[in-house]
Amino acid sequence: MLRFEEDVSLKPYNTFGIEVQTKYFFKVTSASILKEILNQNPTLPIRILGGGSNVLFTENFDGLTLYIANKGIELVEETQNKVLVEVQAGENWHDFVCWCLDQNYGGVENLALIPGSVGATPIQNIGAYGVELTSVFNYCKALNLKSLEEERIPKEACEFDYRSSIFKTHQKGNYIITSVCFELQKPPHQYQIDYGPLKDYFGTSVPSIQEIAKAVISIRESKLPNPKILGNSGSFFKNPMITQTHFEQLLLKYPEIPNYPLDEPLVKIPAAWLIDQLGFKGTQHGAAGVHEKQALVLVNHGNASGKDILALAQQIQKAVQEIFEITLETEVNIL
Ligand code: EPU
Repeated sequence: MLRFEEDVSLKPYNTFGIEVQTKYFFKVTSASILKEILNQNPTLPIRILGGGSNVLFTENFDGLTLYIANKGIELVEETQNKVLVEVQAGENWHDFVCWCLDQNYGGVENLALIPGSVGATPIQNIGAYGVELTSVFNYCKALNLKSLEEERIPKEACEFDYRSSIFKTHQKGNYIITSVCFELQKPPHQYQIDYGPLKDYFGTSVPSIQEIAKAVISIRESKLPNPKILGNSGSFFKNPMITQTHFEQLLLKYPEIPNYPLDEPLVKIPAAWLIDQLGFKGTQHGAAGVHEKQALVLVNHGNASGKDILALAQQIQKAVQEIFEITLETEVNIL
């Protein structure tokens, strides 16, 4: 019989640094142990935790928190110009990016320094600097919580979208991702350096993937707070999409409103800009705050509770709704 730790603080396991407790806690080191636990505890409420970089805990949990910590990177296929690499869910994402840079495998360099674990990356289809996970994702393996069988889920079945996948929508809570297989370029041959800040950084020169990662790291470090120093979980809200008509109305009042063109007849607006316009940037509300360099990032100045951060988030949502008539959706999971 496996033994769970009891009454464990989750503060070290969430990048917001929120103090909450879980009744039971277990570090899962393999898919077979995971299956055994689920088999033996069919009625216990269960919660899955990866790197804890995309959650806001607002209360204690009276169930079992499973911390996914299975490790390993395996080369599953190699051809002349690509490799397939299967990575266990508990590996740290940035460590994996560094491993790819050492091997000179291309595709993930723009995603350097994103906090969190590999198993969490498909859930919200992580993205930064013009690249999303979809561009390197091949398949993942996940435990189906109904059948308790491990399934291999191909890319087409994941329904990836902007910060979304089936694991966040209609299959939410039905799977635990145990590994992810990436298709990487060997040697690297396609680079994405069109995104504004990267373009400014490189001008007309053609960088290596190692140089791209270095630039991404330096841009991120200049804008985004290091969660080890200032608790946060990256972008708190998604960038909203609005109709063309709504956008044109806003343009009359705010001719400088930044926007990203989309394939659909919708316009994406940076949530950071909306929040910044309303004067929230750099403000502190008790121990909860809005980062001084990026208005999309909520921070914990010390001993904020999850409810303090949530109250600030709701205040921002209300103000954005009133002034711009735009609904901000959270990117972070609120538990
Ligand atoms: N802006 C402001 N005020 C600010 C910050 C930004 O007005 O305080 C405006 C600027 O006009 C800027 C625009 O917002 O040009 C966009 O800002 P930025 O380039 O920093 O990107 P973002 O849209 O705020 C997204 C991702 C980030 C990702 C960056 C870079 C989302 C929700 N966020 O942020 O992802 O790192 O692009 O690619 O899509 C994350 O998901 O946790 C995350 C950090």
